[in-house]
Amino acid sequence: MAQSTSASMKFLLLVLTILCGTLSLENIKLISCLGHLDHSHDHAGCLDIEREALLKFKQGVTDPSGRLSSWDRGEDCCKWRGITCNNTTGRVVEIKLSNPWPENALSGEINSSLLALKDLNYLELSMNDFGGAQIPDFIASLEKLWCLNLSGLSFGGAIPPSLGNLSRLKYLDLHDVFSLQSNESDLNWLPGLSSLEYLNLGGWDLGKAAENWLQPVNRLPSLLELHLSGCALSNLPQSLPFINFTSLLVLDLSNNGFGAKLPNWLFDLRRLTHLDLHSNYFQALPEAIANLDSLQKLDLSQNNIGGQLPRNLGKLCSLQSLVLSTNNFVGEITDFINSFSNCSNISLETLDLGYNGFTGNLPDSLGYFQSLKYLQLWKNSFQGSIPESIGNLSSIEELNLSYNQMSGDFPRSLGQLKTLRAVDMSENEWEGVITEDHLVNLSSLEEVKIFKNSPNISLFFDISSNWVPPFQLTYIEIRSCKLGPKFPPWLKNQSHLTDVILNNARISDAIPNWFWQLNLSLNKLDVAYNQISGRVPNSFRFNSHATVDLSSNRYEGPLPIWSSNVTMLYLRDNQFSGPIPPNIGELMPSLTDLDISSNSLSGRIPLSIGKHVDLTTLVISNNQLVGEIPHFWDNNPFLYIVDMSNNSLSGTIPRSMGSLMFIEFLILSKNNLSGELPSLRNCTRLFSLDLGDNQLSGNLPTWIGESMASLMILRLRSNFFSGDIPPQICGLSNLHILDLSHNSLSGHIPLCIGNLSGLKSRLTEKDTVTYQGRLQIVAKGRVLEYDSTLYLVNSLDLSDNNLSGEIPLELTSLIQLGTLNLSMNHLTGTIPFKIGNFEWLETLDLSMNNLSGPIPQTMSSLTFLNHLNLSYNNLSGKIPTTTQFQTLDDPSIYQGNTGLCGDPLPKECVGSDQKPDQSPAHDGDGNGGALEKLGLIIGVVVGFFVGFWGVCGTLIVKESWREAYFGFVDTVKNKVMVFFRTMFVKERAPWDY
Ligand SMILES: *[C@@H]1O[C@H](CO)[C@@H](O)[C@H](O)[C@H]1NC(C)=O
Ligand SMILES: *[C@@H]1O[C@H](CO)[C@@H](O)[C@H](O)[C@H]1NC(C)=O
Repeated sequence: MAQSTSASMKFLLLVLTILCGTLSLENIKLISCLGHLDHSHDHAGCLDIEREALLKFKQGVTDPSGRLSSWDRGEDCCKWRGITCNNTTGRVVEIKLSNPWPENALSGEINSSLLALKDLNYLELSMNDFGGAQIPDFIASLEKLWCLNLSGLSFGGAIPPSLGNLSRLKYLDLHDVFSLQSNESDLNWLPGLSSLEYLNLGGWDLGKAAENWLQPVNRLPSLLELHLSGCALSNLPQSLPFINFTSLLVLDLSNNGFGAKLPNWLFDLRRLTHLDLHSNYFQALPEAIANLDSLQKLDLSQNNIGGQLPRNLGKLCSLQSLVLSTNNFVGEITDFINSFSNCSNISLETLDLGYNGFTGNLPDSLGYFQSLKYLQLWKNSFQGSIPESIGNLSSIEELNLSYNQMSGDFPRSLGQLKTLRAVDMSENEWEGVITEDHLVNLSSLEEVKIFKNSPNISLFFDISSNWVPPFQLTYIEIRSCKLGPKFPPWLKNQSHLTDVILNNARISDAIPNWFWQLNLSLNKLDVAYNQISGRVPNSFRFNSHATVDLSSNRYEGPLPIWSSNVTMLYLRDNQFSGPIPPNIGELMPSLTDLDISSNSLSGRIPLSIGKHVDLTTLVISNNQLVGEIPHFWDNNPFLYIVDMSNNSLSGTIPRSMGSLMFIEFLILSKNNLSGELPSLRNCTRLFSLDLGDNQLSGNLPTWIGESMASLMILRLRSNFFSGDIPPQICGLSNLHILDLSHNSLSGHIPLCIGNLSGLKSRLTEKDTVTYQGRLQIVAKGRVLEYDSTLYLVNSLDLSDNNLSGEIPLELTSLIQLGTLNLSMNHLTGTIPFKIGNFEWLETLDLSMNNLSGPIPQTMSSLTFLNHLNLSYNNLSGKIPTTTQFQTLDDPSIYQGNTGLCGDPLPKECVGSDQKPDQSPAHDGDGNGGALEKLGLIIGVVVGFFVGFWGVCGTLIVKESWREAYFGFVDTVKNKVMVFFRTMFVKERAPWDY
């Protein structure tokens, strides 16, 4: 899982890093309360009273790994593990029971018997499971304490103010004391700790100290380290009358709500070596930062800091770590690099400028930063090629140039980076050829990522088949680069691989046997989008939570099934045949995602799929599956995508599908399902319900409108539904596609149709849900397959039913409609004159009804209209002559309206008879019967294509290529709405051929 390192995972890691920020602070802890006592065992032996106290303490402790077992042996408690005595007095002075391994944690309460240890000066219980309602008060009576470390325990309540009595305390660490019910704490007790050198209250809610938290801190003259990460503080006073804590070396105020400016007093803390302000809301970095010339570590990541970097930042020659990622910095990288030119010695080891707006080419002078170990330049706007001088970075371990606009060849000097362990070159515009020379000395290399999310390939590997690499990779991700046609032979000696992603790499080989025999145990195997043929062995090992993606290849034979461990299995678009193994549920019990669509699978859906209790995604569409849909759906409570479309499933939709409480996409279209719908009333989260192209019958259920408030797509076309359209449907206020066409619905179009407020708003990238599927598109005569990102455009299709009555005026309030199809009904009355309200309408089909009256002039304002069909009604009058209508010049779209005249019809209009158009008119003859018939046929054909393109034409296909259901979308902020091609089953014919 951790290794499925796409950028989204990176983002996740980033988030985790923020969350765990307070833990990682341990790294920059300079001071620790190391014991200053000699651990000599030549001592006086412990006092009875103290031994009793310790034994009583132990009684209250659960000790799963026997860490305190030595406490049962011998009378001399000074020899017990974790206990230190003064060798003169024999009194216990130290208890050190901090715990590095979670499974060894001691738990229970901290017994107040410890009070008997009168000389205890050191108490360290961190990272155990001790807990309670609050930090016990008695600790404040251990008045000789100079070190108290309770970090990582779990106490509720607030920090007891009595701790302020511990006037000898030098070291106080209470960070990450997690509890569900910790109350806001104040800091008024702090000034009592006049000797304090180290203070860490990370993670405590200091809301009660909020306004004045700095004053008590400022009264600690000996303070060297202050850690207040994640303390829910937001007020950072801009000025202080005096500063008392000028001896401060380490200041960590990360993960709070501090905003706007860095305060002036900060720049007077001239001894600071570590400053961590990450994850706040600071907006600017002033020049004064250069005053802090002792700084070794500066972390300003995850703020809102914009503008150029201070010119004098390069004065901080002592910097070892500069982390500025995830801000809005701009400016030329060259200026920044060159600003360090005055340093006699550059000691920078970590430079993280990721996720900013830096620009320019990487300069040659980058090569002077020879101490660099971690160079993170991802997600900026860097251009140009990698400078040859990169080869001088002789300490580099991690290099991340991903998500820039860099281009050109890789320099050969890259191959000299002996220390390079991880490299990420993804999402740039690289060109050229990678040869052995680029890799020749990369003897430390373990992780390689070069991917693009677009299918175009401009980077080629040309590596001789007998080359033996100097590295042992664990992670390789190469996508949209040419590795093939052979499966890379240089992987032959790579026996440490855990993640193999060779996606869209133009491999047309079979995967050779030596690969399967490498004895790997993989987290991820992704060779999708190649032309790999052959069969897949069943004997291959995967780690738990593994992902296997063999989609879009030419694999054949039976479906490969790997025992246990695999959780995501994508085998779509291959030539797998035969049945779905009947025991798939027993063999792969951990599956969460199964996509075996678009193969040649036959037989029935095995009952054992019901045993996949963790299944969230089940996509078995586009196969030749037969039989009934099994009734196991009560067992799969977490399913949110079910797509079984385009098979030959028959029988009814099982009642148990109604128990899929989390289902969001239910796609059963293009099967032979019949009977009435079971109640799906509890499927309240549905975004898309597509049951089109079946033989379902009965009335449209009212629960669709009553309980599916999130529904965006309702597609029931081409079934045998009858009866009225229930007015409850008008309650679907998020609906953007309503397709009830080709049924036997009767009655009027409900007047409340104007309540479908989704059709009054446009979907934008921002406010829609994420859903990824695929779409086949014919372009340039070929069927291309995309995992596409589609933007929905609103569509209402009620065509080919028995609807009667007038077109309700209310319908014209759905002003964001892109497609309106009411053709092939029995609608009467006139075309509403407000039809001009549909400012985005592209497709309008009202053909084959009984509409009468004129074509409203207002239709001239439909500037996006490019597909119109009004044929076979009783419309009359002159066809409008505006520019808009001149482009709709196919006579067939007006055919079969005997009263219509004017261009493009051959029938000219006769003077004043012709309303409402006042323009001069000419007489014209009616058409012969034969011609009229021909017109009907043309009209129907045109109508079909209008309907088809009306939907397709309004979908903007964004070629965000080839990411599966859980693939990466670069839009962390901008979620996008995508949906299955199967939505368009009916329309697929023209795309497929
Ligand atoms: C006590 O420890 C000190 C060092 O801390 C050592 O010099 C001294 O000899 C020890 N005294 C006895 C009595 O063992
Ligand atoms: C041990 O205790 C004696 C007596 O209280 C004290 O003088 C001495 O400093 C202590 N030794 C250490 C190493 O603290």
